[in-house]
Amino acid sequence: MSIRSPAAGLFGARTGANLMPADFEPAKKRLHVITWGCQMNVYDSARMADVLAPLGYAPTETPADADMVILNTCHIREKATEKVFSELGRLRAIKSARQETGQRTILAVAGCVAQAEGAEILARAPYVDIVLGPQTYHRLPEMVAQASRAAGAVIDTDFPAEQKFDFLPELAAPQSPGGVAAFLSIQEGCDKFCSFYVVPYTRGAEASRPAASVIAEARRMVAGGAREITLLGQNVNAYHGDAPDSGSWGLARLLFALAEIPDLERLRYTTSHPRDMSDDLIAAHGTIPALMPYLHLPVQTGSDRLLAAMNRRHSIADFLRIVERLRAARADMAFSSDFIVGHPGESDADHAATLSLVREVGFAQAYSFKYSPRPGTPASGAPLHVSEAEKDQRLQSLQALLRSHTEKFNAGCVGLTVPVLITGAGRHPGQIAGRSPWLQPVHLSGPASLAGQVVPVRIKAAHTNSLSGDLQQERACA
Ligand code: SAH
Ligand code: F3S
Repeated sequence: MSIRSPAAGLFGARTGANLMPADFEPAKKRLHVITWGCQMNVYDSARMADVLAPLGYAPTETPADADMVILNTCHIREKATEKVFSELGRLRAIKSARQETGQRTILAVAGCVAQAEGAEILARAPYVDIVLGPQTYHRLPEMVAQASRAAGAVIDTDFPAEQKFDFLPELAAPQSPGGVAAFLSIQEGCDKFCSFYVVPYTRGAEASRPAASVIAEARRMVAGGAREITLLGQNVNAYHGDAPDSGSWGLARLLFALAEIPDLERLRYTTSHPRDMSDDLIAAHGTIPALMPYLHLPVQTGSDRLLAAMNRRHSIADFLRIVERLRAARADMAFSSDFIVGHPGESDADHAATLSLVREVGFAQAYSFKYSPRPGTPASGAPLHVSEAEKDQRLQSLQALLRSHTEKFNAGCVGLTVPVLITGAGRHPGQIAGRSPWLQPVHLSGPASLAGQVVPVRIKAAHTNSLSGDLQQERACA
């Protein structure tokens, strides 16, 4: 969707921040980024900070002393837009207060709400300086320069033909607190058009980043201290990036190449679609030790009828076969998933089928949502909407069941010695924290110098969302 394109030529040239002359010393400025939503947005926020660093922007903790504030928004569920306007109201007050002391605050709204509601944002919040969609982050330095000069707002929510991946500067540092567990975006957009999902309309067509560029970025992250990398994409297992030589690589091939990077201990990828769990990707779980035995595989519902209504294009039997084959490839595989209750047309029997699927698979973890109609999506106009009361009831029963499975899974770890990647200091002095192969946070006593190492930990207790244990002496873990 194009709202109002900026003057042609202004953003047309390849003027990424990496083209700054070496002796360019920009004035020091402070940047505050507020991030809502998915890991993709967390990653995008870090990249926006990266492209602005050569302009002199360094992060600051509060919007009150920021020369620029970016609100990176998420559009998945309802009330997203209202939440944006209420946050903008708060930021406006800060902007006005700074203005009174002669300081300027550039206010930018980014992400999916910016993409979908750009015009409304400008109409209702004229004090916003920049509105930019997820495809145009590499143009941010130019937009900032223009916003600094001009009085009017700058909007850029086009889907440009060139891929933003090609224009982003090289990463200076790993994208995670402490740098041990990093995210790397390799794919964007989705062409599947599920009935309920708004992102294909806001993030644009499916696009994969070239394999060589992914590998180079992963190497830089590892050089900067990353030991675990999670590959990100809207539909990450549909990845099909240009190969370093010719042709293209799927996700399995890319994972094999990344697994060869020395010191990269762990690989993960998210979010996957069951349709794109190819044979070679399933097999990779059995042959790449660094590929963690944990997969987030959203199924949304346990009912074939609803799967069809959602346009998911697979059956429950297909899903169960994938789970079974992954477990056959690697016995310690565990799964997490997403569920939607109350999609239009969902009956009591459909909901019962969802509960029965949960019992059959025994998910280690799951996210569940009440269906929320997103304007412009097919499901929002469908008949047979489920009442709020019924949605509430179904969500409660599903969440209680999912919680019991998570507790069972966590309790099953007690007594085991598991390899834990230490990510940094823990909550209390002398404590350190890490994550298990199944993404459970693990707390233990130990020296902070272990950060970045995979150490054996004997699990002694399971809590609602974490484990605690003792460091074992021997370092022999997978
Ligand atoms: N690409 C992923 C989904 C990413 S969105 C996939 O294909 O599964 C993350 C989750 O948000 C979805 O899996 C879904 O469970 C939930 N979600 C998305 N749109 C929603 C809506 N309109 N109402 C409720 N939940 C929704
Ligand atoms: Fe695509 Fe459906 Fe997921 S539209 S991003 S596969 S929810």
